[in-house]
Amino acid sequence: MQRCHADICPRHFQVRLSEYRRHRSRVLIASSLTMLGGSVALALVASAIAAGAPGVQGKGSPSRTRSAPPPAFTYDRQSFLLHGEPYTIIGGQMDPQRIPYPYWRDRLAKARAMGLNTIFSYIFWNNLEPSRGDWRSDDPQNDVGKYFRIAQEEGLNVVLRPGPYICGEHEWGGFPAWLSNIPGMVVRTDNEPFLQEAARYVDNLARRSGLADLQASRGGPILMVQVENEYGSFDDNHNYTAALRDILRRHFDVPLYTNDGGVDWTLEGGEIPFVLAEVDGGSWALPARDEYVTDPTELGPLLDGEYYTWAPDQWGSYNPHNTTAGNAADVSGIVDDIAFHLGNASASISFYMVHGGTNFGFQNGALWQNRTTAFTSSYDYGAPLDETGRTTDLYFQMRNAILPFVPNGSVPAPPDNLPRAEIPPFSLRPVLSLFDAYETRKTADAPLTMEALGQSYGFTLYEHTAKAAMTGNVTAGDRPRDRVIVYVNGKAMGIMDSQYQHPLNVSVSLRPGDKLQLLVENLGRVDYYSRGNPYRNYVQDPWKGIKGDVTVGGVVVRGWVMSTMQLDALPARVSSGKACVGRVAGDAPLFYRGSFTGPDVTHNSTMTLDTFVAVPHGIKGNVWVNGFHLGRYWLVGPQQSLYLPGCVVKPGEENEVVVLELEPWQMGKESMVAYGTADRVWGNNPDPDCLKCV
Ligand SMILES: *[C@@H]1O[C@H](CO)[C@@H](O)[C@H](O)[C@H]1NC(C)=O
Ligand SMILES: *[C@@H]1O[C@H](CO)[C@@H](O)[C@H](O)[C@H]1NC(C)=O
Ligand SMILES: *[C@@H]1O[C@H](CO)[C@@H](O)[C@H](O)[C@H]1NC(C)=O
Ligand SMILES: *[C@@H]1O[C@H](CO)[C@@H](O)[C@H](O)[C@H]1NC(C)=O
Ligand SMILES: *[C@@H]1O[C@H](CO)[C@@H](O)[C@H](O)[C@H]1NC(C)=O
Ligand SMILES: *[C@@H]1O[C@H](CO)[C@@H](O)[C@H](O)[C@H]1NC(C)=O
Ligand SMILES: *[C@@H]1O[C@H](CO)[C@@H](O)[C@H](O)[C@H]1NC(C)=O
Ligand SMILES: *[C@@H]1O[C@H](CO)[C@@H](O)[C@H](O)[C@H]1NC(C)=O
Repeated sequence: MQRCHADICPRHFQVRLSEYRRHRSRVLIASSLTMLGGSVALALVASAIAAGAPGVQGKGSPSRTRSAPPPAFTYDRQSFLLHGEPYTIIGGQMDPQRIPYPYWRDRLAKARAMGLNTIFSYIFWNNLEPSRGDWRSDDPQNDVGKYFRIAQEEGLNVVLRPGPYICGEHEWGGFPAWLSNIPGMVVRTDNEPFLQEAARYVDNLARRSGLADLQASRGGPILMVQVENEYGSFDDNHNYTAALRDILRRHFDVPLYTNDGGVDWTLEGGEIPFVLAEVDGGSWALPARDEYVTDPTELGPLLDGEYYTWAPDQWGSYNPHNTTAGNAADVSGIVDDIAFHLGNASASISFYMVHGGTNFGFQNGALWQNRTTAFTSSYDYGAPLDETGRTTDLYFQMRNAILPFVPNGSVPAPPDNLPRAEIPPFSLRPVLSLFDAYETRKTADAPLTMEALGQSYGFTLYEHTAKAAMTGNVTAGDRPRDRVIVYVNGKAMGIMDSQYQHPLNVSVSLRPGDKLQLLVENLGRVDYYSRGNPYRNYVQDPWKGIKGDVTVGGVVVRGWVMSTMQLDALPARVSSGKACVGRVAGDAPLFYRGSFTGPDVTHNSTMTLDTFVAVPHGIKGNVWVNGFHLGRYWLVGPQQSLYLPGCVVKPGEENEVVVLELEPWQMGKESMVAYGTADRVWGNNPDPDCLKCV
């Protein structure tokens, strides 16, 4: 999805939000809807698909012949048809790769118990193929086929949203960072290198991850497959989207659909011949589909493909947590909209999100708006199922709004929420400097980007030993990408942070032999731009680290040693117990290690061990528990604690907690404290590195 509620895409947003605020005058919508009508020439659609999309035999596509049984899932002009019967999709978005896999069934069962009959899911290519050719469908967290089989067992159908670009506030919209190293690559276009990689990805997903066999046409739960994602917000290259349609058609014979914002230019940019066009964003958007899409091969029943249950969070001292909790008007707006979609408009709907989950590790995305706006590790979203999968007030309000539209007694009762654990405060001791934890080291005259160093996420340390005296402000390539801590001989001199429109200038004075060190953190690659936004091309500018030359006082600095720290796994020395912080001089980031005894299981569920880990004196950093990377913390908020899934915790045993604190000089280095809290608190603080920055 994209955040068009906010300041992300001015043109799109203006239309949407003003409409949305005024929308509840739905007269206009209702009258447009009555104009939908007539029956569609299904045979025309079917033969056109067969002609226009190579490899399709018509099986399962929107076609019906006189003798054959109806395809498992298809549609006519008015209705989706499941086994020949009209079917309203009551859907919700939930992405398997954002949910700890042992909890997939719990979350799916609860989505079903809210009254949903369908789950919509993005697939994150970067997680499935972390390096080119290394397809990880056997990693249980990436076994998306298993997740869809569980969905089916729990009584849910599936709408597959494979991208390959998915947006979703996820690292580079789901693209693997290594794509940027392929010569000639331009993503989201009909660029040959991109189409080749996209075809390989779809082929792997269909065959090696087994998703082709999970289509409704073969007895599986997958009803439809989305082509690209809100592409019309980005561009209007129909050659590209037609090529992507054909790539998907090689493997998927169920209906394909597009999903675009509800204005003329998004729908016209995103529509693809022979692909069902749908809108998203709320009830106000529904009439736009039939107003702006006229090709009969793209028309069918209406689906609001992303009805926002609320919004994601972004780091920042002035960004409160987005939630409907405590705002009855927001909740009743959602409740009214459910009745409107399912009742007055006879439309299908998908709630984005029914359960957001977590951007574990370094998996959050970001925006570029003259500054980096990074999404938090929590993807709670204010959704009806919270980040830990517990039902909320919004869940029950939405459930009550859905029940009148489904057969009495057809929706299971939701299970009670299990309690979360409290973990008393425990201390952590410094064990290793991040500067001693590099994975690869390379020297070059000019700095190389993270990607050129073969690194996708995490931190890169750039070190230069001065041969001559140099004085003045430091620049790190074309701009900080994204957060640069500047050190001289291990002493922190300041931070150049692209999260601020005007990153601070850091001045250094080097004598021959002094070591200049720039530690660069990738805060998450840009996942979204809108046409009409002057920064739209940044989704095609994924480079992290340092791109261009470093200067000091305007003089180009040559001769660099570059150390990569992707931290897929913790450095062995962090856990070995042999590391000694006595070696650590200066202000370098430190790994701290501590442990707690896992609470005893009081219910027969690892979920009772769920907790939120807080690092009360921490400034900015990352947390691992038993080697599982929970994500980032930053005292500016709004996120103040990290979700620790109970399935990671060992009850009754010692559990190792590792904290990487990036700014130990701000907080006294000797020790840290952490604890687990059953009830999360959101909040904001000023940034001690940039008190006046906004
Ligand atoms: C929706 O339908 C209900 C019941 O028919 C009606 O009372 C209401 O006015 C309709 N709302 C709109 C916006 O059309
Ligand atoms: C699309 O393809 C056609 C035929 O090859 C070509 O004439 C046209 O310029 C292409 N359009 C774009 C936007 O690339
Ligand atoms: C969510 O939070 C961001 C940052 O504070 C804000 O700009 C946006 O308007 C919020 N969205 C909603 C729907 O409240
Ligand atoms: C972004 O920054 C550039 C250069 O500083 C400036 O010209 C432009 O007006 C800024 N745009 C916005 C939207 O802030
Ligand atoms: C469902 O049950 C309610 C209350 O028992 C009843 O009023 C309603 O008519 C029933 N609806 C259907 C579709 O059976
Ligand atoms: C950094 O220095 C440049 C060049 O003098 C200046 O334009 C800019 O305002 C400075 N930035 C800050 C945050 O002071
Ligand atoms: C260096 O940064 C300082 C602080 O922002 C600024 O006042 C000064 O103008 C900068 N110097 C140059 C030469 O850009
Ligand atoms: C916990 O649940 C599992 C699976 O439902 C069952 O096999 C096991 O016996 C249960 N354990 C206890 C202590 O109830």
